[in-house]
Amino acid sequence: MVIYLYGNLGAGKTTLVRALLHAMGYSGRVKSPTYTLLELYQAGGLHLRHFDLYRFHDASEWDAAGFRDEFDGRNVCLVEWPEKAHGLVPQADMEITLAISSTEIIGNGRNIEVLAISQAGRECLKILQS
Ligand SMILES: Nc1ncnc2c1ncn2[C@@H]1O[C@H](COP(=O)(O)OP(=O)(O)OP(=O)(O)O)[C@@H](O)[C@H]1O
Ligand SMILES: [Mg+2]
Repeated sequence: MVIYLYGNLGAGKTTLVRALLHAMGYSGRVKSPTYTLLELYQAGGLHLRHFDLYRFHDASEWDAAGFRDEFDGRNVCLVEWPEKAHGLVPQADMEITLAISSTEIIGNGRNIEVLAISQAGRECLKILQS
């Protein structure tokens, strides 16, 4: 499962991953992988991989860092800034786009758009909607 997380700086991508991990029972600290580019987690019987590719700049780094191996069809890969490694990150099953939205009613909230791309993505979205 590969999930792309789109949205400007500060849109709430890391916050969403943190909430997801905590909802899955992970009780440790969830740091932004701003400098490490990748953080590894185990929760709810799944292996999760949280990428932040904002600072990724060198394609040769991709294999050297072992990133290709992480997209093994079993890990759940949540990828912030996938556009920074365009052509290297495998295709997404789902794309999530976050945007800051301020209204009088909800205050400083976020808009979220979830797009299912693959069959696995559609099954996830169906569960989210139920
Ligand atoms: N749904 C939300 N409602 C209100 N505030 C939020 C929400 N999501 C995130 N924030 C706040 O916005 C700030 C930035 O969030 P976050 O670090 O998750 O953004 P990001 O999209 O990961 O940014 P970056 O691209 O820099 O990694 C944090 O202070 C966070 O508390
Ligand atoms: Mg972030």
